[in-house]
Amino acid sequence: MNIKGRVALITGSGSGIGKGTAKAMAERGAKVVVNDIVQDKIDEVVGEINVAGGEAMGIKSDITNKADVENMFKKVVDAYGRIDILVNNAGIARDKGLLKLTEEDWDIVLDVNLKAVFLCTQQAVTYMREQNYGRIINIASRAWLGWPTQANYAASKGGMVSFTRTLALELAKRGITVNCVPPGLINTPLWMSVPEKIRENLLKIQPTGTIGDVYDIARTVIFFASDEASYITGQVLYVCGGKSIYAAM
Ligand SMILES: NC(=O)c1ccc[n+]([C@@H]2O[C@H](COP(=O)([O-])OP(=O)(O)OC[C@H]3O[C@@H](n4cnc5c(N)ncnc54)[C@H](O)[C@@H]3O)[C@@H](O)[C@H]2O)c1
Repeated sequence: MNIKGRVALITGSGSGIGKGTAKAMAERGAKVVVNDIVQDKIDEVVGEINVAGGEAMGIKSDITNKADVENMFKKVVDAYGRIDILVNNAGIARDKGLLKLTEEDWDIVLDVNLKAVFLCTQQAVTYMREQNYGRIINIASRAWLGWPTQANYAASKGGMVSFTRTLALELAKRGITVNCVPPGLINTPLWMSVPEKIRENLLKIQPTGTIGDVYDIARTVIFFASDEASYITGQVLYVCGGKSIYAAM
């Protein structure tokens, strides 16, 4: 799975799945751009990659802000001359039943999880079209299939799946692939923010009985990002230890 020398930007890579993906990509020789909204997290990840002998630069940017996003991609192209891989990873949750859900809960989740994906993808594709090469990987969630208390989150991730499939068709002749990875239960700070009782119950209905690791997702992202995956586009590959098999779980 070759990504050596490729320039990869991973949104929200100061933590969790994004951090694991940034480190795993750097280990395989990619030039990694670590984006997050929190500078300390960026510094930590860039530091870890550099200490391990990899190449990384950090860019603090709120990806819900169009001007921030434009500046971020300009900095990447100024530094490396191109952008080969975009991983739309940053995501947040504000779980509540419908009647408790506020307009703010709706807007912030849709802004980070979906509007930002549009903004980042539009900027990336501006450069990828010129290169006739690009790999876009969207980190969705099994929750898009439906989950009580996650109307805003599920809608944002469902939108991401539709966005993936549509852009795969729009960009297929440009050498740009667009694929989607919905993780199941993955051990990250986001997972740890779920109340303990709910986490216990979720693990009880997990086919493997175990929680996944950030590198389970990272390896799948690297597969889609690799030169070898050039004929695969518009696909949704669950990495969830079998949980997506259930009709209702
Ligand atoms: N952990 C899981 O079990 C799980 C399951 C399904 C889907 N996912 C999805 O995987 C992705 C990563 O999740 P995680 O568990 O690693 O989360 P995480 O909370 O560990 O990391 C998310 C990162 O995104 C950053 N971020 C938030 N808003 C931002 C913004 N506006 N601009 C830039 N960065 C921003 C945060 O600061 C944080 O560092 C998310 O899209 C999430 O929905 C995670």
